[in-house]
Amino acid sequence: MRRIILVVAIACVIVTAIFFSSNYPADPAMAGSNPDSNESTGVEKQVIDNVELMELLFDPYYVDLRNSLKTPPEGRKEWRRVYIATYRLAEVTNLLFSRDGEDYMKTPEWKALALESRNAIEEVGEAVRKLDYDLTKSRYIAYIETCNNCHSAFELEEPTVVDPFIVPKPQEDGPTLF
Ligand code: HEC
Repeated sequence: MRRIILVVAIACVIVTAIFFSSNYPADPAMAGSNPDSNESTGVEKQVIDNVELMELLFDPYYVDLRNSLKTPPEGRKEWRRVYIATYRLAEVTNLLFSRDGEDYMKTPEWKALALESRNAIEEVGEAVRKLDYDLTKSRYIAYIETCNNCHSAFELEEPTVVDPFIVPKPQEDGPTLF
């Protein structure tokens, strides 16, 4: 008898533990929602703040793109590297439209600057698809300006400067990368 009580008690503990560790409440629309975020839809939500979004995604992807354009890409493999960096940036830019960490992220100006940036990286993508190095490079430089435009608009104290790494060459050649 004692043994039965013990087994039942253990079973109760296990069932309770499973119940609380599962994604309760049962309404799937509520699962994963963040009560602190009034933008949460229950499906897509902001997991990291904007600083981390910049550090973990924008910055490394931009470095990839910059490095992949150091010299004219040769062959499919090298162009593929440019392509990947470009479209990672293009897609990640969409996340800017749903940021909700700061009030200014809800302003039309924020949305306009994010859109300007996404349009610019899509233009880089078009040049990449044409395998046109000079066009890709000049559009890349224009794209980097859109990072800086947003930083100057919203980081008032000390805007982060994203450098396309243009090294001025002897006058008449104009700007080149590195
Ligand atoms: C639509 C606006 C917007 C665009 C576009 C944007 N950023 Fe940012 N970025 C910000 C804001 C705002 C901050 C400051 C975040 C804070 O301090 O709260 C920031 C900060 C940063 C930081 C500093 C993070 C830190 O450690 O403080 C880096 C690096 C950065 N951005 C890289 C980039 C790069 C690279 C691009 C373009 C490829 C880019 N950003 C495009 C808004 C933007």
